[in-house]
Amino acid sequence: MTLEPAARADEPILRNLLELYVHDLSEIFPQARVGADGRFGYEHLARYFAEPGRRYPFLIRAGGELAGFALAMRGSPATSDPEDLDVAEFFVLRGHRRAGVGRSAAPLLWDRLPGAWVVRCSLANRAGLPFWEAAIRDYTKGAFEAGDLPGSPNPWRVFSFRSPGR
Ligand SMILES: CC(C)(COP(=O)(O)OP(=O)(O)OC[C@H]1O[C@@H](n2cnc3c(N)ncnc32)[C@H](O)[C@@H]1OP(=O)(O)O)[C@@H](O)C(=O)NCCC(=O)NCCS
Repeated sequence: MTLEPAARADEPILRNLLELYVHDLSEIFPQARVGADGRFGYEHLARYFAEPGRRYPFLIRAGGELAGFALAMRGSPATSDPEDLDVAEFFVLRGHRRAGVGRSAAPLLWDRLPGAWVVRCSLANRAGLPFWEAAIRDYTKGAFEAGDLPGSPNPWRVFSFRSPGR
């Protein structure tokens, strides 16, 4: 399992995977609607290649195969410090799920970028909620905070903790 920064040449790979991700999440976010071209689109993708130091795109591979991606950014919709690190999007392909890929990739992400981290997850996300709770509890050995914020159509669980980096 590897988590590697995505290069500009990898942008089309992320664009494709984001379609699968948004489709998955459209089950719990009805506001995610497919366009007339049959694509959901992801308007912020270009920023991940234009704002180094603020946006961080990663690809996850398992056994050499693409297995998912992570997008991280500075500044979180859930906090006021513009330097806070936020897991904007995180995805493991269905064929790789429940095999520990996400559990291995998340700490690699946090280790790469030391500082204050925020993870947001919809309370309706039945896989994401227990996943993040377990991953963050393991990573921080319990030294994290969690609270709920209003969201549409469901509230968010917001986790915050520090990464010492590696
Ligand atoms: C959430 C997600 C990233 C989990 O990735 P994964 O690689 O399948 O997770 P792991 O195999 O590392 O699971 C680690 C632990 O998380 C929990 N977990 C993961 N998926 C779960 C599920 N569907 N139901 C309940 N618990 C789950 C379990 O505790 C699991 O440990 P176990 O398998 O030993 O029981 C993946 O399901 C996904 O990409 N979902 C769609 C996108 C998404 O929701 N992203 C998060 C947005 S906030």
